Formats: sequence, C-alpha cells, structure tokens
Amino acid sequence: MRILFLTHAFNSLTQRLFVELQAHGHEVSVEFDINDEVALEAVVLYRPELIIAPFLKRAIPEAVWRRYVCLVVHPGVRGDRGPSALDWAILNREKRWGVTVLQANAEMDAGDIWACCEFEMRDVGKAGLYRNEVTEAAVEAVLLAVSRFQAGDFRPKALDYSDPDVRGELHPLMRQSDRAVDWDRDNTETVLRKFRSADGFPGVRDRLFGRELFLYDARPEKSLRGKAGKVIARCGAAICCATTDGAVWIGHLRDKQHTHPFKLPATRLLEAEVEALPEILPDRDSGYHDIWYEEEGEVGYLHFPFYNGAMGSEQCERLRHAYIEACGQNTRIIVLMGGPDYWSNGMHLNLIEAAESAADESWRNINAIDDLALEIINTDSHLTIAALQGNAGAGGVFLARAADEVWAREGVILNPHYKDMGNLYGSEYWTYLLPRYAGVENAESIIQARLPMGTREAQSLGLVNEVFSEDVQRFVRAVRRRAARIAAVPAFSERLEYKRKRRLADESQKPLQDYRAQELEHMHLNFYGFDSSYHVARYNFVYKAPRSRTPLTIARHRRTTERLRRVI
Ligand code: COA
Repeated sequence: MRILFLTHAFNSLTQRLFVELQAHGHEVSVEFDINDEVALEAVVLYRPELIIAPFLKRAIPEAVWRRYVCLVVHPGVRGDRGPSALDWAILNREKRWGVTVLQANAEMDAGDIWACCEFEMRDVGKAGLYRNEVTEAAVEAVLLAVSRFQAGDFRPKALDYSDPDVRGELHPLMRQSDRAVDWDRDNTETVLRKFRSADGFPGVRDRLFGRELFLYDARPEKSLRGKAGKVIARCGAAICCATTDGAVWIGHLRDKQHTHPFKLPATRLLEAEVEALPEILPDRDSGYHDIWYEEEGEVGYLHFPFYNGAMGSEQCERLRHAYIEACGQNTRIIVLMGGPDYWSNGMHLNLIEAAESAADESWRNINAIDDLALEIINTDSHLTIAALQGNAGAGGVFLARAADEVWAREGVILNPHYKDMGNLYGSEYWTYLLPRYAGVENAESIIQARLPMGTREAQSLGLVNEVFSEDVQRFVRAVRRRAARIAAVPAFSERLEYKRKRRLADESQKPLQDYRAQELEHMHLNFYGFDSSYHVARYNFVYKAPRSRTPLTIARHRRTTERLRRVI
C-alpha cells in the first residue's frame, strides 16, 4: 500500500514505523505537519491509500480526514484523550498503559478505534518509556490496524465509555503546577515521579539559586541527606537535591534566559553557584553514575547510559579510561552496553554549541571519540562486543562497529550517516570500519543513504552481527548468556589469535593513523572551513528550529515536483 505519514517530526517512533511498514512491503512517504496547506498539497501529490499520523501536535485538516482514512497513533489506552497522555499515566501511577490507533475525525482522540496494544509500565522517564514500551506497542498496533484496513472488512469500534474495555478518560494538557515539586512535603518517590512525567520535555520548572530553571534527568541518591529542597552536593554533571526522606541527583538543566537556552549538564549551567559544594566521587552507594563496570565470570560489562546518547569530550575521555581499566582485568570479553535508551548518538552537540569556540570543541570532541574508537579497535587482550539495547546515530553507529561484534535488540534503529548534520564528513575510523565489515559497495550506499535503518537491514549490510528479538530486559539477559557461552568455548584463544593477526595484516596494508588523518582533514574543513553548513545545522538541531520543509530523502511524493521545479 501507499502510505503517507503526516507527522510533526521524523522522531524515533516515526522512524521505526517507517522501517517496519517498508519491511512489510508498503511504500511510505513522509510529510512534516507544517500547516494545513502543506498537508493538503502532500495528499494531492501522493494520493495515498492510507494516512498515518505517528506523532502529531495538532489536528489533521478536515479536508484531509473527510476524504482519506487517517490513523492517529495515540500513546494512551482506549478512551484516553488529551495531549499529555504519558505525563498523566506516569504521574497517576498507572500500572499498565497502552497505545491506541484511532481514526481522525472532528474531535481530537475520539475517533473509531482500529487497534490497541498494552504494556506494563516501568519506573523510567517519559522519554525512556516512549522510546521502548510505547514504540513497541505502537508498532504492534499500527501493523494490526494496517492489516485490518487492507483486509477491507474490519469495522473499527466507536469510542464508547460504557464499554468495560474503555478505561481511559479525557485529560487536560498537563501544566507545570500539576507536577511542581513541593520540596517540603514530597518524598523521593514523589519527586522522581514528577520528574519522570516531564522528561525529556518540558522538564520540571523550579527555582534553584534564585534562577528559574527546567530540570531533567533525575536519579535517586542512596545515602546523602540534607535539608529538603537544598542543593547539597555535586557529582560529575549532576547536582544533588535533598528531599524529605533522601535525595535525588539532577543531571540536566535548561535556563530559558541564559545565553545558551538549551539543555546542558547541571554543573555546567550552574558553574559558579555549585563551585563550593562538596564534590562526590561516584561509588556503589552514592553519586550520579553515567559510567560503570561490572563483571560476571569471564565477561566484563561497561555501561555508559549518557543522557540522550550524547558523548562530550570529557565523557569520551572518562569512558576510554574505564575501558582501559576493563581491559586490564582477568576476563575474556568486554561488552560495551551503552544505555537502555541509546547506545550512542556521537558528539555532544549541545556542549559544542555552548563552547566558547564551537570549532575547537568539535575538534576536541571528535578526537576524544576517535581515541576511544582506536582503543577498542586495537584491543588484542579481549573479544569486544557492542550490545545495542537502544538506538545509535551518526558517530555512535561507527563507534559500535569498532567492536569485534555488534549485537542489537531487534527494535533498534540506526542512523549510520553524518550528512544530515550539515554534510559532516565524520570520523571514528568509519573509512576503515565500514569497508572492513560491510564491504566497499555497501559502505558507499550506507553513508550516502541518510535514512534510518532497522536491525535486519543493518545485519544484511554487515553493520550488525546478531539481532535478538527481545525487549530491553530480555535482550540484556540474552547478551549475558551468549557472552558467557562464547567466553567458555575451548577455541576462544584461537579466535583471539586470529583477531590479532587480522589487525596486524590490516595495519600493514594501511595504518589506522592514515585513515584517521584523512577523515580528520575533512572534519577540519567542516569545523574551520569557509562552508559553515555544519555550524548552521548544529545550531538548528540544538535550538530545535522548526522545519520549513520535509527532506526529499523521506518525502518521496515531492521528488519529481522538486526536479521539475528545478528544470523550469
Ligand atoms: N548531542 C546532543 N544532543 C543530542 C544528540 C547529540 N549528538 N543526539 C540527540 N540529542 C538529543 C536531542 O536534542 C533530543 O533532545 P531533547 O531531550 O531535548 O528532546 C534528544 O536527544 C532526542 O533526540 P531526537 O532527535 O528527538 O531523537 P531521535 O531518537 O528521534 O533521533 C537521531 C535520533 C540520532 C537521528 C538524532 O537525534 C540526531 O540526528 N542526532 C544528532 C547525531 C549527530 O549528528 N551527532 C554528531 C555527529 S557524530
């Protein structure tokens, strides 16, 4: 079928549905929901058989839903309505939640129901829930709705609040007052729940050090105590706020009035204010943990759940040190776990944007990632595995490929390209790694494609070695079982020996330093050259500049018209 996506953005859920529907043989074209006129134009150009709205912030124009079946993906159970579905589900301590696919009509979220899938809620932030449980349920519900639509004889069910299956209700937009933290009364559980209902947007509004700030990325602290509402310590990026019965770490902040009014690590934004606070080094019982190592038998696991998968220079350096330490242990395998939401999204674009010299910080950041990649590629003491629990983008994908094996959870989406960031050339030794693992031809098509990729395609192209069809928790358990099994095979040392020989042979053919130097020559031009495309694209990304048109890579219905326009 020809399916048109009408969506606010090509976000992770939209990308996943894009990949899944195409894998099921459908043709999908995307139009950003910019205004009614643009939406109507897209419909006229594409003449879709079905319209799907995976992520919309406003109503579909009447002229569209009256003529076409438009299926809206709503992150709520049957009968739930309103723009803050997940926020209320978290704040109201729902145990089970769901995704409903309903048909657009004159009333928002009140259309006939085509499919609904439910899931168990987890104690994580809204963004984490959206990227995992909501996305999985949405895929299931959309595929079901599409097959029902295609069958032609399915009659969607009108919303009926007397039906016992309909347990949702209409909720208003959640306001800051609904989730404001009352530091004198709220215990740690309540504080965390309020934060989770607001992560990663819009954050919890609060006043710290006399400044109005939006707070994100809250995690519990096990042992520190203090006067409720007071900032009592700092640790890496985070500050620690005492609650009535404990304390929480707050990793990220946004100050709308600041020169850099976007999300930044808390201690970066409050540099002067927190200078005198006691600094905690993370240990088992205390601190904000963004890198940790654990061992099980002969396998070492290195976790690095960096917020939003962004890896700043300092984080890369710390991770490299942790990695070198892991290599010094008496184990056989090191598994690079990333985090449950993202494995890595490459350089930290917000920190770069906030730096005194964005070019210098970009240079420092890419070199820090390269140093880490080099360490991984050159490891001859261990077999290395990148275990992708969550998505990876840009340099993050190639960093994962630096490991001997890449294992991915089935639903993971990869964006193995840099070009969308102002034609960035990219580094992380991709010019060595891609031809090595994917072959020269695949390497070229991967890097030119600029499209999200599912794990099955990534596997067929050599970007990924193994795919397990499980959710995050089951994926992690399966990774542990498999890694332990590989570490125990009698031929393990021969495998390591083969790896050493292969690396030596590759090195003698062309040293890694040459690959790096060539890649960085291009990157130097991206950062310091006359063409400022990278700086403009980064600015737009960090400031979330609204899109004025849909890229032709995904708006297939606009490709011929665009070509015609250029000719005329
Ligand atoms: N640096 C800083 N922040 C980043 C980031 C990065 N490299 N990659 C993602 N983020 C942030 C986004 O700004 C967003 O922030 P929010 O919490 O304020 O909304 C959040 O992570 C989620 O990103 P989003 O784009 O909404 O997620 P997605 O899963 O839909 O898309 C990507 C994933 C990877 C396609 C997209 O985030 C992207 O293009 N990132 C930039 C990758 C890049 O060019 N890196 C530099 C070159 S190595």
